[in-house]
Amino acid sequence: MKVFPESPSLPVAKIDLSDFGVENQELDLKREDLIHPFISGNKFRKLKYNVSTARNMGKDVLLTFGGAYSNHILAVAAAGKEFGFKTIGIIRGEEVHDKISQNPTLSFSQEYGMQLHFVSRDEYRRKSEKEFVEKLRRRLGDFYLIPEGGTNELAVKGCEEILDPDHKNYDYICVPVGTGGTMAGLIRASGEGQAVLGFSALKGDFHSSEIEKYTSRKNYRITDSYCFGGYGKIDSTLVRFINEFHRKTQIQLDPLYTGKMVYGIVDLLKKEYFNKNSRIFAIHTGGLQGIAGMNKVLLRKKLPIIE
Ligand SMILES: Cc1ncc(COP(=O)(O)O)c(C=O)c1O
Repeated sequence: MKVFPESPSLPVAKIDLSDFGVENQELDLKREDLIHPFISGNKFRKLKYNVSTARNMGKDVLLTFGGAYSNHILAVAAAGKEFGFKTIGIIRGEEVHDKISQNPTLSFSQEYGMQLHFVSRDEYRRKSEKEFVEKLRRRLGDFYLIPEGGTNELAVKGCEEILDPDHKNYDYICVPVGTGGTMAGLIRASGEGQAVLGFSALKGDFHSSEIEKYTSRKNYRITDSYCFGGYGKIDSTLVRFINEFHRKTQIQLDPLYTGKMVYGIVDLLKKEYFNKNSRIFAIHTGGLQGIAGMNKVLLRKKLPIIE
């Protein structure tokens, strides 16, 4: 029976930021995106212990929740196919049902064998209620539940493994933030004197209460100043930055998470937020599958696309 591989060792790209208007500063970017083509970046880390626990519990179905362009939905579908589980995705928005063929995330998930169920936004909001989950169990049969975004204690434990002992010499560890689960793992694994800096993909300051569920350490800060207006929102400045970064480094960033983080790091360096000669480490958490769907939206809005 196939199991998740142990933590693979991944390259750290050394990026000279003088190409982006910041002199004498290097950014070290850990290429977690190279872990797996579809169970990429933090998804691999979050699913590793959940998949082994589901197997140990004798479950053969994984059920999870997500939006129409969710990296997590596709990762669960791909993990199910690779590791021998049936998968069910509960998708936000009944109207999305008619758009599966135009949506690369959902059509790939279906190709991987995921059963998709579309629920209204009101119903979707109840995803953490016991009663709602019981109703799903009565309707769809038994399953191992993975929450939206994949964050739970086992996911945070998996995300601790992003940091190796030789990453302890950095001053800052930067990471994109959605639910905060990946960041919680990094905070738990960080060394004395290291600060973890989160770049939120969403507007708001609700993350700290999520992070406090998993760690009492306080060596972190989260900013939503680089969310470009909110989740899923991007503009031509961000698209141009992602394209320029790709041309200069050959590294592809995604528009929802890693593009916003690297843009934010460069901007904070220009504003001298970091102490002089700081050693900065950033995590490329993957999410590249979302580019195809985002380009369709950009084309519709007549904006430049991600090359
Ligand atoms: C590519 C990518 N990076 C970062 C995140 C944020 O991770 P978290 O929800 O653990 O904060 C996500 C979200 O799910 C993601 O898909």
